[in-house]
Amino acid sequence: MTTVSSLPDPQVRAPVPRGSGGLVDRHGRVATDLRVSLTDRCNLRCTYCMPPEGLDWLPKVEVLTDEEIVRLVRIGVEQLGIREVRFTGGEPLLRPGLPGIVAATTALAPRPEVSLTTNAIGLSRMAPALAEAGLDRINVSLDTLDRERFKQLTHRDRLPDVLAGLAAARDAGLTPVKVNAVLLRGINEADAVPLLDYCLEHGYQLRFIEQMPLDAHHAWTRGEMVTAEDILARLTAAHTLTPDVEDRGAAPAERWLVDGGPATVGVIASVTRSFCGACDRTRLTADGQIRNCLFAREESDLRTAMRAGADDEELADRWRVATLGKLPGHGIDDPSFLQPSRPMSAIGG
Ligand code: 5AD
Ligand code: SF4
Repeated sequence: MTTVSSLPDPQVRAPVPRGSGGLVDRHGRVATDLRVSLTDRCNLRCTYCMPPEGLDWLPKVEVLTDEEIVRLVRIGVEQLGIREVRFTGGEPLLRPGLPGIVAATTALAPRPEVSLTTNAIGLSRMAPALAEAGLDRINVSLDTLDRERFKQLTHRDRLPDVLAGLAAARDAGLTPVKVNAVLLRGINEADAVPLLDYCLEHGYQLRFIEQMPLDAHHAWTRGEMVTAEDILARLTAAHTLTPDVEDRGAAPAERWLVDGGPATVGVIASVTRSFCGACDRTRLTADGQIRNCLFAREESDLRTAMRAGADDEELADRWRVATLGKLPGHGIDDPSFLQPSRPMSAIGG
């Protein structure tokens, strides 16, 4: 039974059916992988994500505190079957409490696998503390190895920091270190092979991600997107790729053995070969909203409910309800497709 509340806002305390069990949607998918955006701020301005002048950041009072984040992650793990937690941003290393949040998450039972998606700026300093806190793995976003192009793409001259951060992650045992790259037509397509060679040389696992319509300025067009097919064509001009037969499960990357293996390269064809049918994700934004999909047009406000005094059971129920209505796919190809109003930096990769 839902407890009757005396709080005035019906939106906040609308009765939700009490349930039990995990995060299941109407299409039978079960979300066990939680992405938590720790901040919408970033110290880079990747052109496909943020305008050079930045965005209107979330007001501080709306951003969850470290304790609030840990509480929601705990509910996810203890009551809702979350088995994997990935912290993202914006740039999660900008959050001073990050090592504490990671330590509190890895202390949960059953212990979830905990990873971080970062641009690696500041990682050379932070990697040992994060490993100490129990962080398992790291994903670093890097789209070029050319310093000038990096500057052009991110509006910041920080390539050396990123490369140092990558090495520090590997040295701290945050492995496998994965590198995520997005290729943009006419800008960094020629970086595909150098990126792969660099990752092979340093023992990082490279994955290319098709650019999705999540840019702040809504400038994405399908025709401009570099497709998985384009990427593979570039890579096979320099390397032999054979399909990696290992079961992909819910992992979005299709993997290829490079030159016979054991090194692999992945391509995440989010747009042209979408994997929504196997999606096991649920997302929590920095301001405490549950999103059942990157492309969701609705969110469920756990922050307001939590600050109005909701107990763990009620928050878990709200999360379950938010999951039920997850759409079967992202619908990018649908003529009625509408880009979500929040950009990637405020949703979390
Ligand atoms: N499409 C695909 N990937 C994106 N990323 C950011 N914006 C987009 C987009 N529009 C990537 C970043 C990072 C991860 C969180 O998502 O490069 O690696
Ligand atoms: Fe920052 Fe990541 Fe967006 Fe680049 S893609 S501006 S690193 S949040």
